[in-house]
Amino acid sequence: MLEPAPMRNYPKTRHLMQRGTDFLGSEYAILCGAMSWVSERNLVSAISNAGGFGVIACGAMTPDLLDAEIAGTRALTAKPFGVNLITMHPMLFELIEVCARHGVGHVVLAGGIPPKGSVEAIKAFGAKVIVFAPTLALAKKLLRSGGDALVIEGMEAGGHIGPVATSVLAQEFLPALADEHVVFVAGGIGRGEAIAGYLEMGAVGVQLGTRFACATESIAHPDFKKAFFRANARDAVASTQLDPRLPVIPVRALKNKGTEEFTAKQREVGLLLDQGSVDMTEAQLRIEHFWAGALRRAVIDGDVENGSVMAGQSVGMVTQEEPVAEIIAALMAESESALNRR
Ligand SMILES: Cc1cc2nc3c(=O)[nH]c(=O)nc-3n(C[C@H](O)[C@H](O)[C@H](O)COP(=O)(O)O)c2cc1C
Repeated sequence: MLEPAPMRNYPKTRHLMQRGTDFLGSEYAILCGAMSWVSERNLVSAISNAGGFGVIACGAMTPDLLDAEIAGTRALTAKPFGVNLITMHPMLFELIEVCARHGVGHVVLAGGIPPKGSVEAIKAFGAKVIVFAPTLALAKKLLRSGGDALVIEGMEAGGHIGPVATSVLAQEFLPALADEHVVFVAGGIGRGEAIAGYLEMGAVGVQLGTRFACATESIAHPDFKKAFFRANARDAVASTQLDPRLPVIPVRALKNKGTEEFTAKQREVGLLLDQGSVDMTEAQLRIEHFWAGALRRAVIDGDVENGSVMAGQSVGMVTQEEPVAEIIAALMAESESALNRR
């Protein structure tokens, strides 16, 4: 059934998203956060064609692969989309060059503090730079030194996460930054009511990953999607570090055989260290390498037992395959009706 016209136009939500849509050039200030292997040309173009803002996940791609992905996405949409680059990629500056050649309008720098010269190199070809920051002090610094917009991402999110919940980050960052800066909120958003709440706190828009990962247009393997549909919030757990000598970057993913074996691996390597059978560098490498290629195994090969099924806590709200346009329409309608109740 069609909603009444005022609901379809979402005037209150759009009003609160205005600065976000002006910044992104999209119809709605809803970004689909870059998801390695998932956020390729099909999903990215579908998001942008539906009025959201798609972002290509460059991940570990080479400059040539990124070049092809941007061209492939352009062939599927005339709407704006962005590119997410990981700051520690060894060819970061070559990747920036590729974005420059294609005239990409928005570059998201993820995974750490942007290295010297990277923000400047992006701005030099006229693109806007979107940054992440785990603390308010760092956010202010990045926005002072060239960041055009900020994404605050809480620990409910899928993928690599920090230690603080979205609701707390929002209360800490938005009152301090929202008047002067473009701030998007990410992590744990599954429905539009939550979007309405963050918009009212001053966010100009939101970023979702988990909610879009299994859209009809997503190329993720059917078994990856099934794992999402079956999972509850409590199944999306953060990886834990067992041994203080062996650092583990927390990643939120569905618990499976792989996550259990990772715990066993940490125990085993810790023991080898105690016995002196391996040195610290070797031990840390063994931990680091455990998950190498694991997201690809889950997303592309459908190995949801041994692969890394990265998912946020909102996974419990993902129950079926839906076209991107329907997901976005539902989010906007939920936000609008929440704002109408106030
Ligand atoms: C399967 C998956 C892969 C992801 N890969 C990346 C990535 O490569 N780079 C990145 O910056 N964020 C990555 N993320 C995080 C998303 O971009 C987004 O910020 C996050 O999913 C938002 O939180 P939500 O999952 O609660 O919606 C990933 C998330 C998921 C679920």
